[in-house]
Amino acid sequence: MLWLKLSQIFTFSCIFFVVSANLPVLIWHGLLSDPRNNFNYFKQMMKDEANVTVKSVDLTVNNLHEREVSVSVHLFNQIDQVCYEIKKDEELKNGFNAIGLSQGGQFMRGLIQRCDAVKVKNFISFGGQHQGIFGLPNCSISSSMSPCNLLRKLLNVFAYTDWAQMHIAQTTYWHDPISRKYQKYNTFIADINNERDINMDYIHRLQQLNKFVLIKFLRDEMVQPIETQWFGFYKPGSDRIVQNMTETATYIEDKLGLRKMMESRKIIFLAIDDEHLNIATEWFREHIIPLLKDN
Ligand SMILES: *[C@@H]1O[C@H](CO)[C@@H](O)[C@H](O)[C@H]1NC(C)=O
Ligand SMILES: *[C@@H]1O[C@H](CO)[C@@H](O)[C@H](O)[C@H]1NC(C)=O
Ligand SMILES: *[C@@H]1O[C@H](CO)[C@@H](O)[C@H](O)[C@H]1NC(C)=O
Repeated sequence: MLWLKLSQIFTFSCIFFVVSANLPVLIWHGLLSDPRNNFNYFKQMMKDEANVTVKSVDLTVNNLHEREVSVSVHLFNQIDQVCYEIKKDEELKNGFNAIGLSQGGQFMRGLIQRCDAVKVKNFISFGGQHQGIFGLPNCSISSSMSPCNLLRKLLNVFAYTDWAQMHIAQTTYWHDPISRKYQKYNTFIADINNERDINMDYIHRLQQLNKFVLIKFLRDEMVQPIETQWFGFYKPGSDRIVQNMTETATYIEDKLGLRKMMESRKIIFLAIDDEHLNIATEWFREHIIPLLKDN
């Protein structure tokens, strides 16, 4: 009898323990950032204050170090590889909270939408470029003859070639709002945003999120337009007028289920009044740690 009681208590406490453990965190880093040397301070904070395991997407496809992979292997191959790794990972396969840093934001969303194995609870995107980019770092567009604008025009020609799309990850989120080439030849952002065809799996998988947190850096000099971090973009046909998410065709025509996510209050917009990926310790503690603790 006593033994039975003890085993019941033991079973109960085991169940309780499983339920109370916070989910691990998976981070997808940004361009040319070394996953081992970046964001370390916040990783430690998450471990200390939310008591979670923190992992980084670490790709060794074709024996390339992640730094090189982030610019040279097509995103869908990278995502397949990460998906495969997650299926094998004892800690991640039961679910996790996802963090994307800069381009890691749209890549992580690609993973969430394309990988049947991931169970992501909250997805937190820091400075992600969810509608792509149309501009270069530190290159605010002043006049149509500025070097920055000429470079934009050059990139328009180059970015949508098959070669560039296959070999340079950054061209897969180059979004020219003026020409129609983007819809046709962009191989990543146009696809995961359901610009060409509607992939119902993408919609369904996004809806599984508990919260989709979009963080915009108000003084960002790397990303143009800044509104892409909140899923907005240039108005089609213009390289100056910016629309917010609810004004875009993606939202109005509900190509990706964003409208439903807004209605069920899954999308959270946060702003940081600073430059690209400059995050204050207190801000992180106040806004991010609670998302990782909440079961
Ligand atoms: C942290 O989580 C582990 C299991 O993941 C648990 O054993 C430990 O008691 C937790 N520590 C705190 C302070 O909650
Ligand atoms: C952009 O300009 C700022 C100052 O104007 C500088 O601190 C920063 O390093 C520059 N960033 C890049 C990527 O060139
Ligand atoms: C977009 O702008 C419109 C009009 O200014 C506003 O009503 C709406 O709340 C904005 N949506 C978002 C997501 O900021």
